[in-house]
Amino acid sequence: MAPDPIPRIHRVLGIETSCDETAAAVVDGGVVIVSSIVSSQIDLHARYGGVVPELAGRAHVELLTPVLAEALEAAGCSTSGSGIDAIAVTYGPGLIGSLLVGVAEAKALSLAWDVPFVGVNHLEAHLFASLLEQPDLGWPLVVLLVSGGHTLLVEVSGPGRYRLIGGTVDDAAGEAFDKVARFLGLGYPGGPAIDAIAADGDPQAFAFPRAFMAEGYDFSFSGLKTSVVNTVRKHPDAATEDVAASFRQAVVDVLVAKARRAARDVGAKALCLAGGVAANSLLRQRVEQACAEDGIGAFLPSRALCTDNAAMVAAAGWWRLANVGASPLTLGADPNLRLVPTA
Ligand code: KG4
Ligand code: ZN
Repeated sequence: MAPDPIPRIHRVLGIETSCDETAAAVVDGGVVIVSSIVSSQIDLHARYGGVVPELAGRAHVELLTPVLAEALEAAGCSTSGSGIDAIAVTYGPGLIGSLLVGVAEAKALSLAWDVPFVGVNHLEAHLFASLLEQPDLGWPLVVLLVSGGHTLLVEVSGPGRYRLIGGTVDDAAGEAFDKVARFLGLGYPGGPAIDAIAADGDPQAFAFPRAFMAEGYDFSFSGLKTSVVNTVRKHPDAATEDVAASFRQAVVDVLVAKARRAARDVGAKALCLAGGVAANSLLRQRVEQACAEDGIGAFLPSRALCTDNAAMVAAAGWWRLANVGASPLTLGADPNLRLVPTA
């Protein structure tokens, strides 16, 4: 008698709770988003000027059940798990209290529904966001992953095959946006606020530093942040629009110069953006322009897929299940998880 065929994984329920977004999504075959629900805690943290880890963890506990129910309902699946073949969850990096909420829920559902459980690296999930919208991107790709916690240049030579090219030696790009916005009194999260106000400013008004511009692939944004603070203290009458525009220009100049150089050196077929800062309008415009000049593809995921979401977690989980296998239920949350180079 022929052995039972290995059951195929079609629909993966993804869960994301690594920072201040509580998200759940159902993705079919690793690429088709059937439902995706994101509940942002921005209003909860805004009055503190940044994410308060203790509050974030508690909010995930309250929000995850309704967010899961909404994602399952929108996908036509029942809350008893019918129609779900596996569960993927971000297990790091991120805030430990927040990660634990998602990981515990994913394990409980895996046991209750008798489906496999897979832990996903949040950074790998951001890389998969590009593939969700454009599965036929050629290889190799260079991905510029710019979020609130990370700034990485990664060569991707196939799904799951990564080589780290460079990273930040201090602040992440999103962190720099958030800190400068807080200093300028623009609120939280700072990226969208600076992006909006910079549209009315003069990007040449202040010559802020562009660290390591001509050398290597690493980034540094803490000197830039200090320079903004010193400049504003020296010129208290400076228009906030001009400061924001000059700051945004400095960040984007460095990000684009290094990503473009990496793409050329690697012989990349395309340059992709990932992470929350990939929603920046100037960055998107400049990457598109640079890629057109260099004759390579530019892939700019939709804003909903740039910022934290669970569809990218389900997509990365689907790939892991198909190529590496399920995770043991002993897998714990890892707040310092790194992207493991495999290429
Ligand atoms: O990927 P993400 O949603 O969460 C993390 O994993 O960190 O990224 C959030 C970051 C925040 O720092 C936020 O200020 C930044 O992305 N961000 C932006 C923009 N939209 C969000 N930064 C610059 N320009 C934007 N339009
Ligand atoms: Zn993220």
